[in-house]
Amino acid sequence: METGMTREEAIALLKKYNQESFHLLHALTVEGVMRWYAKELGYGEEEEFWAMAGLLHDIDFEKYPDQHCQKAPELLKEANASEALIHAVCSHGYGLCSDVKPEHLMEKVLFAADELTGLIGAAAKMRPSKSCCDMEVSSLKKKFKDKRFAAGCSRDVIREGAEMLGWDLNELFEKTILAMRSCEESVNNELAAL
Ligand SMILES: [Fe+2]
Repeated sequence: METGMTREEAIALLKKYNQESFHLLHALTVEGVMRWYAKELGYGEEEEFWAMAGLLHDIDFEKYPDQHCQKAPELLKEANASEALIHAVCSHGYGLCSDVKPEHLMEKVLFAADELTGLIGAAAKMRPSKSCCDMEVSSLKKKFKDKRFAAGCSRDVIREGAEMLGWDLNELFEKTILAMRSCEESVNNELAAL
């Protein structure tokens, strides 16, 4: 699948519409996570597509929070993004702010992992290491069950994502921790240089 743009163009677009470091960190993290998943799930040839959908999925959120997933097509078209990429981006808000249903496996992974990376990131911050590199699934499960912890990360969305994929929560947690470990260092380095 074609993205219609280079990574350099995607980064330029990201920076045009996102200045808060929290949002830039999230974009780079989900990019790295999607890259890992593409390879893990046998879609290595589509790695760039998966990664770019992750990088740009929240492109409109910082400036247009009330039009999340609605404004995105316009911003993405500005940079010549393909229809497939626009579909993928919009589908991550299915049932929340978009009626574009995740169809491709990549879209289901994005839907499930997006919200979960927020929870893993918040849990990592609490650790002495400030990292997910030494985080176990069992400790993430505890954070998942503690509704007061990172209350903004919707447990229902994470459950729904796992269901779409046909995975149990353990599998989604285990894979997404590994995905975040794979890119934590490079994401931090790139964020510092943005
Ligand atoms: Fe997101």
